[in-house]
Amino acid sequence: MGESIIRTYGLWKRYEVQGHDGAAIRGVDLDIQRGQIVVLFGKSGSGKTTYLNLIAGLDMPTKGRIEIDGQDLAVLGEAGRTLLRRNKLGFVFQFFNLLPTLTALENVYLALELTGVADAKPALETLALVDLRGKENRYPHELSGGEQQRVAIARALVKKPSIILADEPTGNLDSATGTQILALLVETCRAAGTTLIMVSHALNTCEYADRILRMTDGRIVEVSTCEALAH
Ligand SMILES: Nc1ncnc2c1ncn2[C@@H]1O[C@H](COP(=O)(O)OP(=O)(O)OP(=O)(O)O)[C@@H](O)[C@H]1O
Ligand SMILES: [Mg+2]
Repeated sequence: MGESIIRTYGLWKRYEVQGHDGAAIRGVDLDIQRGQIVVLFGKSGSGKTTYLNLIAGLDMPTKGRIEIDGQDLAVLGEAGRTLLRRNKLGFVFQFFNLLPTLTALENVYLALELTGVADAKPALETLALVDLRGKENRYPHELSGGEQQRVAIARALVKKPSIILADEPTGNLDSATGTQILALLVETCRAAGTTLIMVSHALNTCEYADRILRMTDGRIVEVSTCEALAH
């Protein structure tokens, strides 16, 4: 057994507008080890994004506890959670979410600068790592979808986070590009020892996972093999 990096205990989340018919997250206990590549599957509305938002400290649980790298998110407070997000977490989203008025390099550099490092070199190196050498000064609209997602991956990686949370990172790409992006994200996380939690709908994502989780109506169940997932 490795070292725990994400732990949730009896986690519940009920949104205000949800009424009596249920909660988005219904008692999730999970223990993720440092460096694990975890893929989270589940139907639309099952609670995947809600769960990532809770882990990221972007939203607070109704009940239960979350520990990131041994730190209780509730104890950290708003300011502490913001610092933790900046320094320890990287995010990759379905729609890339790059700042449109900044170049590729500036998008990556900004993430680093927010952690207190004012040095362009790591930003350039990380863009080279995702194969974007020569395109550093392009704006997002001058890049293809796959290239934009590589900028987003570089932005997440540049600060050497302990954890990367990826919410359907290939959901908006064609399947060939999606597979390339997926392989890149997993390889770079493996090489850096970064823990990756990735939400996906594509079954082939399963092949890359150390752990397969399935979310159903706000509960998480461990799935043992990709074959079992298909059933
Ligand atoms: N801000 C919100 N306010 C109220 N209800 C919400 C809110 N966000 C999500 N929900 C509800 O919580 C449940 C889980 O939503 P969530 O976005 O986590 O699902 P998901 O698994 O990420 O789905 P998808 O695959 O479509 O992205 C759904 O019933 C949704 O309607
Ligand atoms: Mg979602």
